Amino acid sequence: MTARYAVFGHPVAHSLSPRIHAAFARQLGVDMEYTAHDAAPEDFAAALHTFGAIGGLGANVTLPHKERAVALCSQLSDRAKRAGAVNTLTRAGALWHGDNTDGVGLLRDITLNLGRAIAGSRVLLLGAGGAARGVLPPLVDSGPAALTIANRTARRAEELADLFQKVQGGSYRELSGRAFDLVINATSSGLENQAPPLPAGVFAPEALAYDMVYGRDTPFMAVARAAGAEACDGTGMLVEQAAESFLLWRGMRPETAPVLAALRLG
Ligand code: ATR
Repeated sequence: MTARYAVFGHPVAHSLSPRIHAAFARQLGVDMEYTAHDAAPEDFAAALHTFGAIGGLGANVTLPHKERAVALCSQLSDRAKRAGAVNTLTRAGALWHGDNTDGVGLLRDITLNLGRAIAGSRVLLLGAGGAARGVLPPLVDSGPAALTIANRTARRAEELADLFQKVQGGSYRELSGRAFDLVINATSSGLENQAPPLPAGVFAPEALAYDMVYGRDTPFMAVARAAGAEACDGTGMLVEQAAESFLLWRGMRPETAPVLAALRLG
């Protein structure tokens, strides 16, 4: 019988997840379908319930439901608890188990695909919303030399930093005079065609600038390139988090390189 999986978001029409999971399924010979479901926030719980009732085995959850999904799970993995957000649901009997593969997806892209070490590096995380919070725990665990969060609303960055040891939080202005080896943009500024107001000098020589937004060249990436940094978007993170979800559901890890290459070709 065809195994059913889905992604829930709002909007979700342009999600690349159905294409990525179809490619993984072909690669590993798994008979599955993976569909995209648009659900407004107030309809998400009912839509997930219906999906479970028709035999859905697992689902990805994307914006704006990642925090809301936490309450719909009977069990949460440690990484979902620490992130305060769920992006992967796995059916456990009549209930859902919640996990979060975003952080590990980002880490795998940076370290394996892009060949950059996080351990010992000076890391700057931009933004203090759900996207930033989701990737913070595994970044902390990777042993950076320094981990700083900057946000337009400085108080949110301070509050997020306070949840972890040895993480600093503050405003963009406070970055003045400091340089970082890895700068990760977890703000939604790119979606508004803007860049976070970074002071000159935040990119150390040979820095990597990583925008978690995918499928477009953002103003943040342009600013980073102009400052001499290597810049990339979040397509690799998207494929890696999907592979990690697939592994949770099917017990097999797909190869990501061919899928990522195909997506980059358009
Ligand atoms: P998400 O779940 O995507 O993180 P969010 O909780 O709404 O969504 O957070 C959006 C993040 O992008 C916030 O850090 C926000 O900064 P504020 O907390 O000050 O609002 C940041 N952001 C959005 N637009 C921005 C812009 N044009 N410049 C800088 N930061 C921006």
